[in-house]
Formats: sequence, C-alpha cells, structure tokens
Amino acid sequence: MIEVEGLKKSFKHFEALQGLNLNVRQGEIYGFIGKNGAGKSTTMNILAGLSKPTSGECLVGGIKVSDIIQASDLDLGYLPEDPKFYPWLSACETLTYLGDSGTHRIKPGRIQEILEWGGLDKDKHRRVGTFSRGMKQRLGICSAILHDPGLLILDEPSSALDPQGRNDVLHLIKGLKDMGKTVLFSSHILNDVERVCDRIGIIASGRMVLEKSLKDLEHSHLQPVYDVTFEEKITEEAQKCIKSSIGVLSTEIKEQVMVIKMEDGHESILTLMQILIDNNLKIVGVSRRKPTLEDIFIKEVHGL
Ligand SMILES: Nc1ncnc2c1ncn2[C@@H]1O[C@H](COP(=O)(O)OP(=O)(O)OP(=O)(O)O)[C@@H](O)[C@H]1O
Ligand SMILES: [Mg+2]
Repeated sequence: MIEVEGLKKSFKHFEALQGLNLNVRQGEIYGFIGKNGAGKSTTMNILAGLSKPTSGECLVGGIKVSDIIQASDLDLGYLPEDPKFYPWLSACETLTYLGDSGTHRIKPGRIQEILEWGGLDKDKHRRVGTFSRGMKQRLGICSAILHDPGLLILDEPSSALDPQGRNDVLHLIKGLKDMGKTVLFSSHILNDVERVCDRIGIIASGRMVLEKSLKDLEHSHLQPVYDVTFEEKITEEAQKCIKSSIGVLSTEIKEQVMVIKMEDGHESILTLMQILIDNNLKIVGVSRRKPTLEDIFIKEVHGL
C-alpha cells in the first residue's frame, strides 16, 4: 500500500530524512515510532502529498506521489499532528463543510454514519470549541475517513489524550482495520502501538532502524527482562558491578527499579540472584517478563 525507498528531505542544511525505507502492506495497522524530531511528521506529510521530498521514491496505492497534481489525487485520509477546527461550528457542520468543500463526493447519510461510528452522535450539534481533546481527535479521525479512503495516515492520534481518550481512539483505529482499511499511525506511546499494530517501524534520525511484525519481534527479542526493586536507591558503583557481570546484557534505572536484561536461558534467574547476593543488595522484589516494545525501542534506538 505504501512503498518508500531512499527518502530524503532537507530543510536548508539540515537532513531530516536521510534515505528512509518504509513498507506498509494492504489491510494492516502500521505503528510508526520514533523520538521527538526523528522525522515521523516529515515522512507522513510527504506521503500525504503535502510536502515534496528532496529525493527518493514514494508509492501510495501504486501511485507515485511525485506524479500527483494535488493531494486529493491520492486515495487517503490524513489526520495532522495538531488538527484545527473552526470552534464555532458544530461537529455536524464541520463534517458537512468538509464534505462540501472536498473534491470527493460523499454519499447521502455518510455524515450521520460517521458521527455514530466516531461516538459523536450525541454531541453532533455542540460547537467544536467546547469539545474535549479526545472528542476533537475523534472528530479528526471522522474527518479523515469522511470520503471513505482506503488508507489512513494518522499523525499522533492518541498521544495527547488521557487513558480513556486513548482507548476510544485505539478502538476506532481497530475499527478501521475491520473495515478493510490500511492504517499508518505514529505514536510516542509504545503501549498503544503494541495494543493495535500488526507491524511497526522504528525511525531514528531520519532512518528506519527496524521494521518488523510484532509477532516476529517477539521471536527475535526473547531475552528475559527482570524488574528488580531495591529497598534503597541503588548506588552507581553497584549498578556498574551488575552491568559488568556475566550474563547481564544491559541495565537501566527507573526510580527504585532496575530493569536488567539477561542472556536467554533457564538459569538466567539463578545468575541474576547470585549477582544480587554478591553485591549485598537489599531487594524488595524481582519479576521476570517478556521484553516490551519500550525495551526493544530503547535497545534499537540507544543500543542499550
Ligand atoms: N519546516 C521545517 N524547517 C526546518 N526544520 C524542520 C521543519 N520541519 C521539520 N523540521 C525538523 O526536522 C526534524 C524532523 O521533524 P519531524 O517533525 O518530522 O519529527 P517528528 O518525528 O514528527 O517529531 P515529534 O515526535 O516531535 O512530532 C526535526 O529536527 C525538525 O526540527
Ligand atoms: Mg511529529
């Protein structure tokens, strides 16, 4: 559905995209993740036909983005990072306005259908200026799918929302997949990405550092992770000792908890316990878990 090869984008002397490759398959939910400034929005703007690359090839639904005359030539809906609405219009008026001003005809009854789908039917006559962030974001998604495109590009649709708002947005994103749509969405919240995505792409400094299905990721990152909670704040010296012990791949401190990645193997817990005893550390608890997407992200982006 999306094929990007060697995409470059420079702003004056700064190379925001440095030869990015990205592939989104038909019907999947693709999570595009990266730190602030990694190049997610720059990529998505180019894919939506809103900005021109310096070089590189982008195909969206088989169409070369460089060949289009206007953004609406692509069969996609786009939700920008910070969608803006006229605050004095109601949700219903907003969609009617967008439907009337777009180049694609929308079928009768479509606005009502979309308002119900987005959970906004009850509030459809309320002015958008009075909407919560979550409602605005849902209205943004409704606007993006108004003309029934096959592909949705959503830039951080859930990032600024509370858990309930994020849940609602993720539910809508899953619903898009059930409708047979392809979704590319960016996020900082790796837990959200883990919950809904089929595949992920990690971008760092304008390059794709990893692109894989979540299933394949689970198989390729099997090393166990231990969260060790200490009674007291751990000293730098103790951390160094743990880090340099045999069997330890990496350590990271999160307040009272040390996240320790060990080499794979049944005996890893025994090795870890021995290290903790050798260092005479007072432990409150130890728990073993599978690596999360956040652990994988930190490894791929920071090499930890
Ligand atoms: N119009 C512009 N002029 C100059 N630099 C820009 C411009 N747009 C983006 N950049 C720079 O390009 C880099 C990538 O920006 P981009 O907005 O794509 O990152 P992002 O991954 O979307 O980050 P965030 O998570 O903060 O939204 C950043 O260093 C940014 O400052
Ligand atoms: Mg961005």
